[in-house]
Amino acid sequence: KQTDNQLIIDAGQKQFGATTCGSCGMLYSTDSPEDNFQHTQFHQRFLDTIKFVGWKKERVVAEFWDGKIILVLPDDPKYATKKAEDVRRIADSELGFQQITLSSPSSAKTYLFINSDRMVVGCLVAENIRQAFRVLEQQEKPKDMSKEDFMEHHRAWCCSTVPEKAICGVSRIWVFSLMRRKGIATRLLDTVRTTFMYGSHLTKEEIAFSDPTPEGKLFATKYCET
Ligand code: ACO
Ligand code: ZN
Repeated sequence: KQTDNQLIIDAGQKQFGATTCGSCGMLYSTDSPEDNFQHTQFHQRFLDTIKFVGWKKERVVAEFWDGKIILVLPDDPKYATKKAEDVRRIADSELGFQQITLSSPSSAKTYLFINSDRMVVGCLVAENIRQAFRVLEQQEKPKDMSKEDFMEHHRAWCCSTVPEKAICGVSRIWVFSLMRRKGIATRLLDTVRTTFMYGSHLTKEEIAFSDPTPEGKLFATKYCET
C-alpha cells in the first residue's frame, strides 16, 4: 500500500515530465489536465494553419531540396492572402505581438517557406521603409534584474537613435519551433534580398529588422556578419 508521502513524491516528479509534442512543437506537461486541454485546443488548429495544400497559381521565388519559398502580395487571391495572414497570426502570438495590423499593409510582402511535407514552416514579412535604427551590441543581463525586466528594457534600448538609410524592413520572421537551425530563416532572408526590389540585389545593410526579439537578434547578428 502506498503512503501519502509516496504519492506526493510521485506527483512532484511527474511535474518535471514536460513533453514537447512531436507534431505541433508545444511544450506541456502530460500530467496537467489544464496543459492537456490547452494542447488539444492548440494542436489541430496549428497544424491546420500551417498545412499547405497547394495553389493554382503560386509565386515560387526559390526552390531547395527540402522545400520552396513562395511570395504572397497584398493583391493576391483571397486564399493566398488568408493563408499568409493566418500564419502571420501564429508568428505574432508566439512573438507576443498584440496588434495584428501591419505598419503598411499595402506594401507588405509575405514570404512563406513550404517544406516537403506541405507545411508552412517559415514566414517572413517585409515592408518598404526609408530609414532604420541600427541594432546595438547585445548587452549582458545585470545580475539584479529579472529576465522579464531585462527583455522589456532590452527591446526598448537595443537600437541606436541615429537613423540610417534602409530599403527593406523585416517586421516578422518566424520559423516553426521543430524546424529551427536548418537555415530556413537564412534562406528566407537571402530570397528577400534578391526578390524584394525588382532588378536589384539588396545588401545586408539595406535590410533592417524591426524590434527584434533576443532570438531574432542572435540570428540577425549572425546573418549580418556572414
Ligand atoms: N540562438 C543562437 N544562435 C541562433 C539562434 C538561436 N536561437 N537562432 C539562429 N541563430 C544563429 C546561428 O548562428 C545560426 O547558424 P547555426 O545554426 O549554423 O549555428 C544562424 O543564426 C542561422 O540560423 P537559421 O537556421 O537560419 O535560423 P532559424 O531558421 O532557426 O530561425 C528565428 C531563426 C527566425 C529567430 C527562429 O528562431 C524563430 O522563429 N524564433 C521565434 C520567433 C522570433 O523570435 N523571431 C524573430 C523576431 S524579430 C523580428 O521578427 C523582426
Ligand atoms: Zn501537439
